[in-house]
Amino acid sequence: MKKLIKNGTIVTASDTFQGDILIIGEQIAAIGLNLTENGAEIIDANGCYIFPGGIDPHTHLDMPFGGTVTKDDFETGTTAAAFGGTTTIIDFCLTEKGKPLKDAIKTWHKKSKDKAVIDYSFHLMISEINDQVLDELPSVIEEEGISSFKVFMAYKNVFQADDETLFRTLLTAKELGGLVMVHAENGDVIDYLTKKALQEGKTDPVYHALTRPPEVEGEATGRAAQLTGLAGSQLYVVHVSCAEAVEKIAEARSRGFDVWGETCPQYLVLDQSYLEKPEFEGAKYVWSPPLREKKHQDVLWNAMKTGVLQTLGSDQCSFDFNGQKDLGKGDFTKIPNGGPIIEDRFSILYSEGVSKGRISLNQFVDLTSTKAAKLFGLYPKKGTIAVGSDADLVLFDPSAERTISASTHHMAVDYNAFEGMEVKGVPVSVLSKGEFVVRDRQFAGKAGTGQYIKRAKYGEQLGTAGSSKVSI
Ligand code: URP
Ligand code: ZN
Ligand code: ZN
Ligand code: ZN
Repeated sequence: MKKLIKNGTIVTASDTFQGDILIIGEQIAAIGLNLTENGAEIIDANGCYIFPGGIDPHTHLDMPFGGTVTKDDFETGTTAAAFGGTTTIIDFCLTEKGKPLKDAIKTWHKKSKDKAVIDYSFHLMISEINDQVLDELPSVIEEEGISSFKVFMAYKNVFQADDETLFRTLLTAKELGGLVMVHAENGDVIDYLTKKALQEGKTDPVYHALTRPPEVEGEATGRAAQLTGLAGSQLYVVHVSCAEAVEKIAEARSRGFDVWGETCPQYLVLDQSYLEKPEFEGAKYVWSPPLREKKHQDVLWNAMKTGVLQTLGSDQCSFDFNGQKDLGKGDFTKIPNGGPIIEDRFSILYSEGVSKGRISLNQFVDLTSTKAAKLFGLYPKKGTIAVGSDADLVLFDPSAERTISASTHHMAVDYNAFEGMEVKGVPVSVLSKGEFVVRDRQFAGKAGTGQYIKRAKYGEQLGTAGSSKVSI
């Protein structure tokens, strides 16, 4: 199958230019002006930007959490992702203490196989370091192609790991070629503050935010960054929400530590006041870290602009308002943490970022796709528009407008966190490996066509001969 995309404006993390793209099979075969090809289907992209498909490095699909399971699974979640311009996700595979890592990976393959409509990969959660885990990790990287490990510094008595585990994971990752990811909040302090709030009868959703103030995120971020410097390892801080954490990442980077940071659309456009909505509606906006006061938004935008934060993840972790979020009525600690974000990540960053002049078009591509590909061992197969790369492409109409709403979204949940928000710029058509998943805003994909991607080690390229290094 051949396709020739004509008349679009191609945008990568470094360049913007007019050109045609020839796709043969799953890959980009040629890029140039006035290309012709016998037998190719012609796709007119006049008036559109052509972006590399988005890479969402932070999703939780079909994940058990807080006594329930996230509403979106690998079928609805990846379908919604595709509508939003995302063609690859990296989902968090949860492990259980005392059980082989391989069992957890098997479970995640079972959840995703025959369901995903776009390609996907896994990060692996590390909650303990012992001989069994150390024995297994080399094959997790080499055979499973999982080169990123997530350590939770919060969720005491659930996911939280101690500092020894974090430090030894950093040392091991350095040795094996992995990237350590942290959920950076001080879980012990949060545990104390939440217990105290409940004792004082403070049970409403807003206390979720008030018991996890920015300082606990800043402290944990700084601690993880220092331990990374000590280990000479590499760190990726997920879902950075506040100035306190940005400062610590900037400081670590200025010292030459290999520390990277991700933020999410919700922290850029929503604020803590959403948790105060009446009728328990604040529960819709309960996730961790929590939404912050509005002043933090400018700090996050500036951090993306100046390169202190390099990626935008969704932290998709969706629960229905009716039937799931309401598990926490009368006790905010029982509200399942997370929100439905996967579909609107791209649109919000384009509309609020590029259209409003906060970031450049090329930074947009870097933040939504290229940098994640480079950090997580997917580049250059994914994350750019180049000959030989997968034909994962988004035809994006920058002048079209759309109102975000649960009544039109493709996620399985009963609300949208950005309900009523008007965004400029619409992903009109989306191709995954040369085939349409979304065509003119209509679903054209099929469950099971998305494939599991084994990723390269940290700092290495994927799918090129030898072990060539990637420049991040
Ligand atoms: O509240 C959130 N973010 N839920 C998902 C799990 C996590 O901490 O990333
Ligand atoms: Zn168009
Ligand atoms: Zn987290
Ligand atoms: Zn998360």
